[in-house]
Amino acid sequence: MDAKDTRGAVSALVTEPRFAQRLREYLEGEQILDVRYRLQKMPGGSVALPVLGEKLTEQHLRALQKSGPWEVPCRLTQLQDPVPSKAASVRTPAQKLCRELQRLVVGSGESWSEELERDVPRSWQRHGDLVLLSEDNFGAALWEKLGPALWETVASALGARRVAKRGRVSPGGMRSPSVTLLLGQDGWVEHVDNGIRYTFDVTKCMFSPGNITEKLRVASLPCSGEVLVDLYAGIGYFTLPYLVHAAAAFAHACEWNRHAVEALQRNLVLNGVQDRCRIHHGDNRQLELQDVADRVNLGLIPSSEKGWPMACRVLKKDTGGVLHIHHNVEVLPAPAHLQPGVSRDEQRPTKEAGSVGWEDREREHQSPKDTESCGKEMQVARVRPEWQRWAEATAMQIRGLLEELHGRPWRTSILHIEAVKSYAPHVHHVVLDLECRPTLPA
Ligand SMILES: C[S@@+](CC[C@H](N)C(=O)[O-])C[C@H]1O[C@@H](n2cnc3c(N)ncnc32)[C@H](O)[C@@H]1O
Repeated sequence: MDAKDTRGAVSALVTEPRFAQRLREYLEGEQILDVRYRLQKMPGGSVALPVLGEKLTEQHLRALQKSGPWEVPCRLTQLQDPVPSKAASVRTPAQKLCRELQRLVVGSGESWSEELERDVPRSWQRHGDLVLLSEDNFGAALWEKLGPALWETVASALGARRVAKRGRVSPGGMRSPSVTLLLGQDGWVEHVDNGIRYTFDVTKCMFSPGNITEKLRVASLPCSGEVLVDLYAGIGYFTLPYLVHAAAAFAHACEWNRHAVEALQRNLVLNGVQDRCRIHHGDNRQLELQDVADRVNLGLIPSSEKGWPMACRVLKKDTGGVLHIHHNVEVLPAPAHLQPGVSRDEQRPTKEAGSVGWEDREREHQSPKDTESCGKEMQVARVRPEWQRWAEATAMQIRGLLEELHGRPWRTSILHIEAVKSYAPHVHHVVLDLECRPTLPA
């Protein structure tokens, strides 16, 4: 039976209205009624029942022509403008996308396969009218043959106008996203996040939705009247919450990627804080600033260590301040009784477990002189020993840098360790809030 859909068309059996119910029962019984589309009235008063063209056989048509309980005079046609049924409209966007792609492939004379089905995206990032697909999708060679129709279909199935696809973040310091625009004129998108407007070009700047908790936390820090230095400002994901919500008086935003700088400039204006921020375009290690900051943000992973000497230099030399140091810390897999699903009480740490909670750790580790673990704001929940070890080593190192720079004693205190996200298996992106103060007046 040649009942193959042409592009956008759907196979249907046309009959007189008085036979429509009987035909419907037959098609339902044979599971070949295409419930994705509505029955359709045809010119002249006949009715078309959409059928699954690929499942309809000669035997079905013969059974309908043969005298007997299913005898229904009907003919096969193609509906050029099939109307989706209610059942179809409650499909998930991923199901809708899969169905539309299937129709496109079959309509182009190709066969649908399991490989293609696996290649269809099940999730994506949406940035207004632009959908950003992940690097794992549309790998099969066949997709390329479909040309621009493929991306038009993806856009229309997902209610978008532009489509882009992610590659791997290039390993260089610029953190270029390697995103390709597949449909549309440009990659500029706008987001509103916690009341802050951000615009950026998805093909040129990196976007980390996983950092949302850190952005919210930063927004709630008490920074009134403070001067911030953001050493890795990007498009302003942290600079802006500091200025807009945390009431920082002024920010120095350092960034060496010109595309991120362009987005940052636009974002400062969009949020009306351009007068409270100075952008330093270039390598932050060459920054010509010192003795200005109450707070320094070091939002670079896997490590911001190269920025630590500059962070020390920009801190106010007489009063010091707080560093927010991002880092990827490798951890050992948690013991079974600390795995998710175990209650907080059950999670109370034991020494035998080899993983200690915050209260125990304070007692066990005598803090080295002048490198304190305050833990005032520390969550009682799990602070992994690896985070703690890294934080203590960092506190020591920063104290050393400050003392060398200023030639007098400093104190560094761990205020808090924030878990931002799981970056990779057994790798956690954490932020250390480190208070740094000179211990003696100059
Ligand atoms: C991981 S991104 C994060 C940016 C920002 N915190 C965010 O979440 O959008 C780090 C940014 O630091 C910039 N960067 C890296 N090394 C730098 C350096 N030495 N000087 C200036 N900017 C740098 C990169 O271009 C990138 O935009």
